[in-house]
Amino acid sequence: MKKKRSARLGRNAPCPCGSGLKYKKCCLGKKEPVSNVSRKKYAKKHNIRLKTKADIQAIRIAGKLALKTLDLVEAHIRPGITTDSINTLAHDFTIQNGATPAPLNYKGFPKSVCVSVNDVICHGIPGPRILKDGDIVNVDVTPILNGYYADVNKTFFVGNPKPEAQKIVRVSRECLKTGIAMVRPGATLGDIGWAIQRHAHKNGCSVVEEFVGHGVGFAFHEPPQVLHYGRRNEGLTLVPGMVFTIEPMINLGKKNLHVSDDGWTAITDDHFLSAQFEQTILVTDAGYESLTPFKL
Ligand code: MF3
Ligand code: CO
Ligand code: CO
Repeated sequence: MKKKRSARLGRNAPCPCGSGLKYKKCCLGKKEPVSNVSRKKYAKKHNIRLKTKADIQAIRIAGKLALKTLDLVEAHIRPGITTDSINTLAHDFTIQNGATPAPLNYKGFPKSVCVSVNDVICHGIPGPRILKDGDIVNVDVTPILNGYYADVNKTFFVGNPKPEAQKIVRVSRECLKTGIAMVRPGATLGDIGWAIQRHAHKNGCSVVEEFVGHGVGFAFHEPPQVLHYGRRNEGLTLVPGMVFTIEPMINLGKKNLHVSDDGWTAITDDHFLSAQFEQTILVTDAGYESLTPFKL
């Protein structure tokens, strides 16, 4: 999703917990005791709806369908196919399974999946483009099943990858894995972003800042925003029942991007490769569970 503008939280700003104290005199550096955190508080203060066991099971089922859709797509990816053929496959499979593709007509998006090739970071619109040997292609799938959303994406190789394609796909996969590994009650959103950014930079890659992960389940994009960069111990504290995506977009070159005339397709300014992996993650008492699990 597109990041909304917001002021950076300063040390002297009012604490987001609502105490009336300055942030530095209150919650900065203080871990909130998870036992005191209520469903009501997260709803009221952060507009976050924690998920019940029943909600979670429904998202898990939507997640299974999303993963099966990606498997189907993967089996068809080869040089010579169009990005629109991927859309048709995913769309038809989603409908056959009693679900609806969330992207279709979402804020005017004209297709049922996002298909993003090479220097396209995200939100590629399927069309007549023909995949060729050596391309990388991200397919982002979000079915709505029984009213619940699960959001997942992978980047695939088309034919034989070149070393630079192997590198950016590996690093972006590792960035998601590293971000997910931070998830547990008491950790913060900043911890997730920090870990992702550190891994990308360690590998000489950059992190896209304009698009972020997001709460998901009852709707396509719910609060909170999940930034893929940040500082340790900053931002919202994670509590059991939160469900959100982590979906770092990692560039081989610089982080800067532009959106093409279609109003959607986000492309690296330097036209170097960009790759992405996404999963829908539940915060559990013990740590996390992926509701769209695949090996990272
Ligand atoms: N699936 C994307 C995400 O991970 C959002 C796509 S919005 C669309 O948040 F309109 F392009 F489909
Ligand atoms: Co998403
Ligand atoms: Co997605």
